[in-house]
Amino acid sequence: MSIPITLDRLSKSFQAGRTENQVLKDITLKFTSDESTAIVGTSGSGKSTLLSIIGILDRQTDGLFFLGERNVSKMKAGELSEVRFNDMGFIFQQYHLVCSLTVLENVLSPLMMRKVEFNKKERAVSLLERVGLKDHLHKLPSQLSGGQQQRVAVARALINQPAWILADEPTGNLDSAAGETILALLLELKEESGCGLIIVTHDMQLAQKMERQILIQDGEILTDERRAIA
Ligand SMILES: Nc1ncnc2c1ncn2[C@@H]1O[C@H](COP(=O)(O)OP(=O)(O)OP(=O)(O)O)[C@@H](O)[C@H]1O
Ligand SMILES: [Mg+2]
Repeated sequence: MSIPITLDRLSKSFQAGRTENQVLKDITLKFTSDESTAIVGTSGSGKSTLLSIIGILDRQTDGLFFLGERNVSKMKAGELSEVRFNDMGFIFQQYHLVCSLTVLENVLSPLMMRKVEFNKKERAVSLLERVGLKDHLHKLPSQLSGGQQQRVAVARALINQPAWILADEPTGNLDSAAGETILALLLELKEESGCGLIIVTHDMQLAQKMERQILIQDGEILTDERRAIA
């Protein structure tokens, strides 16, 4: 389950007409699943771009990305989508639930059209129980609070037992109590499942609850620290 992430001089540019906007510059980092990591930085510093590349939602323009021994930088589209499906559970600020599907169906949605060996429905129900939503299985997302919707997204991210949970501002739309519940849940689930956890956040208090804090500024790593957990 534990698969380290290695980024070696990773860069990302976006083309805007004739000009090239370099958003990530020579990022060299290693992540192991035994520690929880927060990526912090001001708006526009490149946090989401970096997390999207790690989550294989986007690709770097230069540099290397290894997942364990596998060179993700060299993979073709089909292989990338398999790695994304098998190893990455992504959580977004806006939850990104499908509004016409029930809570249970949303959690099962990543597995639709795919052959998987375990009992999907049983696992989805048990995950929803684990995140405190067992009485809401058949509701629509619109019938839930923001914090509950994010807990559905957490269960969905874990349905395929990913090696990594990647969360981009997972508490950004929530009040502080609901945000703390989500963060505590993510840290507990990380311990229970042995997966790695990387969170992007603006919230320094939240970042202090993680074992490692990486500060990114203008697409570069400014500091990379490990602190005692607050
Ligand atoms: N698809 C894109 N096309 C062009 N430029 C982009 C694209 N995505 C991001 N950028 C640019 O890359 C830079 C970094 O964006 P990114 O979303 O990674 O920042 P961020 O640190 O996550 O900011 P925020 O805290 O506001 O979410 C910004 O200047 C942004 O405009
Ligand atoms: Mg962002």
